[in-house]
Amino acid sequence: MTFAENSASDRYEFGANWASFVDNHYSAERRRMATDKLLSFLGKTSLEGMDFLDIGSGSGLHSLAAFDAKADRIHSFDLDPLSVTTTGKLRHLAGDPPNWTVERGNVLDAVYLETLGTWSLVYSWGVLHHTGAMWQAVENAARRVAPGGLFFIALYSSNVVKPSAEFWLDVKRRYNASSPRRRRWMEYWYIWRFDLGRNPLQLPQLVKRIHEKKKGRGMSYMTDIRDWLGGWPMEFADDQAVIDFLKERFDFELVRISTGEACTEFLFQSTSGPPSKPA
Ligand SMILES: C[S@@+](CC[C@H](N)C(=O)[O-])C[C@H]1O[C@@H](n2cnc3c(N)ncnc32)[C@H](O)[C@@H]1O
Repeated sequence: MTFAENSASDRYEFGANWASFVDNHYSAERRRMATDKLLSFLGKTSLEGMDFLDIGSGSGLHSLAAFDAKADRIHSFDLDPLSVTTTGKLRHLAGDPPNWTVERGNVLDAVYLETLGTWSLVYSWGVLHHTGAMWQAVENAARRVAPGGLFFIALYSSNVVKPSAEFWLDVKRRYNASSPRRRRWMEYWYIWRFDLGRNPLQLPQLVKRIHEKKKGRGMSYMTDIRDWLGGWPMEFADDQAVIDFLKERFDFELVRISTGEACTEFLFQSTSGPPSKPA
């Protein structure tokens, strides 16, 4: 089951949130944590010998993680110009390496994607459900995976969303239509209702969870709350439907899955080349 909302005209300003994350929260510690998490989910100690395509790079922290993990070649692209600028800032921090390119691009633009060729590791974390055409985006991204290559994606799961996908789609519509002041109020409302469960005694557990989030992918608690409340357009995917889709269309095998959080992480391996039949 998929809950689709295809109105991409009132897109959330993802790039502004990522620019603020890098300006206010970037640290060497987050950089290291992002690398550790990337490698651990891939079950690798380095990306030597692999190339890395980062679709919807956002802050660029995970492209930087791939650089630190010694990927041979990295290409990062994002639809939002501020995400592109922010990813460029982190590339600059890495010394402007010639084997890392950053540009504006749209995962729904099949002609652009074709120019990129195929990659031994295609990464798209928390992106494809924000395009307004999630299944097309999954398909376009999967076509960039080289034969035998890896496909690491994360998608909002309809299996775990509470109270319901419709509830959150409505909250997101309201958040995007709100003034900055009202948005701030909604962020506090979210923390009070969902992270504290309306119980101030939950504060110590929340502080622990915030620390663990940083340990996870190196992200920041408030950046993620804004991304969650604002992220638009938005769809949710059933975990098994994702696995079946990639098996049926591409013969991708599921290597690893991490569920239970808002985003399910999937690692697939291509067993052959991209399918010859068009979508
Ligand atoms: C939730 S953020 C995730 C960023 C990053 N992948 C991460 O894990 O931190 C989603 C990103 O996808 C980008 N995005 C949305 N639609 C896109 C599209 N059609 N093509 C490329 N990027 C897109 C947004 O601009 C945003 O930077």
